[in-house]
Amino acid sequence: MIERVRVAVAGVGNNTSALVQGIALYRQTGNLVGIRKPVIDGLGVGDIDFVAAFATSEEKLGKDLTEAVFLPPNNFPRLDCDLPPAGVPVTRGLVDESEVDRVAAALAGAEVLLYAAPSGRPRTALAYAEAARRAGVAFINTTADPVARDPESLARFEAAGLPLVGDDLASQFGTSVVHDALLRLLAERGMTLVSSYQVNLGGTEDFRNLVENPNTKKQSKLNALSGAGRVELAPLGYLPHLGSHKVAHLNIEAQGWGGTAVSLDVKLKVHDPSGAAGVNIDLIRLAASALRGGRGGYLTEASPLLKSVPGSAV
Ligand SMILES: NC(=O)c1ccc[n+]([C@@H]2O[C@H](COP(=O)([O-])OP(=O)(O)OC[C@H]3O[C@@H](n4cnc5c(N)ncnc54)[C@H](O)[C@@H]3O)[C@@H](O)[C@H]2O)c1
Repeated sequence: MIERVRVAVAGVGNNTSALVQGIALYRQTGNLVGIRKPVIDGLGVGDIDFVAAFATSEEKLGKDLTEAVFLPPNNFPRLDCDLPPAGVPVTRGLVDESEVDRVAAALAGAEVLLYAAPSGRPRTALAYAEAARRAGVAFINTTADPVARDPESLARFEAAGLPLVGDDLASQFGTSVVHDALLRLLAERGMTLVSSYQVNLGGTEDFRNLVENPNTKKQSKLNALSGAGRVELAPLGYLPHLGSHKVAHLNIEAQGWGGTAVSLDVKLKVHDPSGAAGVNIDLIRLAASALRGGRGGYLTEASPLLKSVPGSAV
């Protein structure tokens, strides 16, 4: 029987809620709806146990992970499944490098640290990565802050022989992958891109934070697109009534045969945290498999699931 992956999470927000609930649902039903890869290197979707969880909000501290995921401002809905207690109390995380050793000690027994705190806090991201490295744990940076794009951090993971995955996950069927696919199709079919934009609106805490802290996210979103020189991103919009939905509008203006105009508008509506969970489930299994196989440094097989790979702009 396969040994389940032991995962720690930093950040008990909507993405962690979607991941924790989804794993319980898939274990109970065995269905494969919305799963990209049922099995990765022998690991199924249900082969994941949570062993530690870090948060900073007082209301979540001390609660079981399965209880904390429903506390506000989280607003990802309850999935239709039983959620037995994980037996994992949420403990205090860190905000900077001063508490790396304490968090590293709390990671004992974990194989993978999934970093899912708000984007726009680069020092916090690097501090969690350092805690993972000291604990001998693989690190996944789902945020737009540079960790895999930080040459020193990458070198430390390479030297330690530990897997590093990042930066910024590309949602399973989100704005970036749909926009990029359309831009690639346009080029493949010989059209000439004139201009393009995307508008992203959402009602999650992530959106609220990104409206205030758009810096690292904006560049990361551009890194995920081909033809980025002609693509513009409208400022993100936080609309609380959208709840965990994200609504994106994509526009592409192009020229075809003889310079005639081609215009394409797309509206995409998804549950944003589901898009993250559908990718995090694969990143966790890739990272665990590499760790178990003794492969360290940046995991190139994760690149299609990320927005900002090492070497891309910060
Ligand atoms: N589709 C997506 O949702 C998507 C796609 C790509 C990237 N991301 C990124 O994933 C991350 C998580 O997204 P989310 O929707 O779960 O966000 P969220 O705001 O719902 O959750 C983040 C949680 O981290 C907590 N937190 C803040 N500082 C912390 C610290 N120092 N240590 C531990 N916890 C801390 C917050 O209190 C919050 O509960 C964000 O950085 C987001 O930009 C999300």
